[in-house]
Amino acid sequence: MGSTAAASVLPVSAGSGENLVLILDYGSQYTHLITRRVRQLGVLSLCVSGTAPLASLEGLRPRAVILSGGPHSVHAAGAPAFPEGFLDFAAAAGAHVLGVCYGMQLLVQSLGGAVVPGERQEYGKMDVEVTAASSALYGEAETGKRQTVWMSHGDEVVRLPEGFEVVARSVQGAVAAIEYREMRFYGLQYHPEVTHSAQGMETLCRFLFNVCGIKADWKMQDVLDEEIKTIQSTVGPDEHVICALSGGVDSTVAATLVHKAIGDRLHCVFVDNGLLRYKERERVMTTFESDLHLPVTCVDASEQFLSKLKGVEDPEQKRKIIGREFIAVFDEFAHKLEQKIGKRPEFLVQGTLYPDVIESCPPPGSGRTHSHTIKSHHNVGGLPKDMKLKLIEPLKLLFKDEVRKLGSILNVPDSFLKRHPFPGPGLAVRVLGDVTQGNALEVLRQVDEIFVQAIKDAGLYDKIWQAFAVFLPVQTVGVQGDQRTHSNAVVLRAITSEDGMTADWYYFDHAFLVDVVNKICNNVRGINRVCQDITSKPPATVEWE
Ligand code: XMP
Repeated sequence: MGSTAAASVLPVSAGSGENLVLILDYGSQYTHLITRRVRQLGVLSLCVSGTAPLASLEGLRPRAVILSGGPHSVHAAGAPAFPEGFLDFAAAAGAHVLGVCYGMQLLVQSLGGAVVPGERQEYGKMDVEVTAASSALYGEAETGKRQTVWMSHGDEVVRLPEGFEVVARSVQGAVAAIEYREMRFYGLQYHPEVTHSAQGMETLCRFLFNVCGIKADWKMQDVLDEEIKTIQSTVGPDEHVICALSGGVDSTVAATLVHKAIGDRLHCVFVDNGLLRYKERERVMTTFESDLHLPVTCVDASEQFLSKLKGVEDPEQKRKIIGREFIAVFDEFAHKLEQKIGKRPEFLVQGTLYPDVIESCPPPGSGRTHSHTIKSHHNVGGLPKDMKLKLIEPLKLLFKDEVRKLGSILNVPDSFLKRHPFPGPGLAVRVLGDVTQGNALEVLRQVDEIFVQAIKDAGLYDKIWQAFAVFLPVQTVGVQGDQRTHSNAVVLRAITSEDGMTADWYYFDHAFLVDVVNKICNNVRGINRVCQDITSKPPATVEWE
């Protein structure tokens, strides 16, 4: 893609405040969760690779640094360690350092203590007892009390570096929490961030607010004000910005924010590729125009897309064609815009989120290589190479739930913010085989609408991650109105999920399903059989393609 990032991956300005928490990532599956937990407490946290060179942290003055867990043993060859000079950096910043699991073992080993493979490996729930009469992490009230925590370690700390004391032990006798208050070092062998650690959040709060003296001053309104200032100082007074809207939450919130900053020098395009859901174009255009007052050009490119997809059955081939057509439409939009305003747009808005940014700097030992490539927009499938656009990514420090909060402050309607995800290639991945066969797309739109509306009517929409129908290119025999029919079958799929990476199918009660199936068979011509997909991911994927 021919764009260049306008700002560094880790924006120094965002981390120069007084109450920053820096998370050094050593590859634990819970690292994102720690980052999110800290933010949920109203404190900005930034996550960087645990072995990132110290130079990349320059300008940051964290009040606390949390060393995450990780799948490694400190004894393994090439085990990741914090960067050279890190402890001096933390001391100079006056930061308190908390090692969690692997992070604690790393801290202990680096300061001269001993970590050995444990005789009893501790995985899962475990009771720990606060043994210290007075500890910074637990306070006096917890002394002698037990709490259930989530352990996940093979190695254990057997000798502490000088100055440290054990403040909690597991009921099996393993070191569970340590402190060296004068030097501002702390360690937890368990994961306070997971809900299985019953008092984990209390401990995290004590650490952040009592021990480090951090103030919970990170508010979405401030993020918004800060972003608007940044955009206004990045985009010159005569410069123009373009944005492809997909109808999804991220691009909509990003565009609304940029519009607030620079007004109608933002130019959005929404492409109807002929693969949208029932009345999708009308619905999103109403939100864009009437609710958000965004300057949007709606391009009806249905014919262009569908003619290219005619006869194509292979899913990958379909995706490639759709990606190419998006580029062609976008290119034409930019070209026409240039003629209209008499100059080239300089910037492109993308709805990149923080997980994408973190993924571009994978933790050590993950097997993935470091890369600063920001992934191309799903829905435009990459942009023309000769379009030297600079990126504006106003959401790149935010998680999805934070984007929803930001959208809410920007008056994006709640119903819009809570929409289920919809894939960029649209219904092309939900009509199996040739999407132009008969009236498959139209039939699918009707079935999908009945299903999703029934879910909304039953008050289930927000409990479900994604619900949709799939059109099968097979005909089955049925009997409708005393006549034998030979019509198509559709599948209903509804899943629950945290992030779309894994999913479970949703359990509807029977009365709901009976009602939906009746509605579909009675109202949609061409359908005489309805199935439900009861496969989780894995082994299946969410979409059928
Ligand atoms: P799969 O089918 O891979 O889907 O289990 C996981 C999630 O990703 C969505 N999805 C896409 N989203 N462009 C998108 O913007 C795409 O090409 C795409 N393919 C799948 C899918 O709907 C589910 O939420």
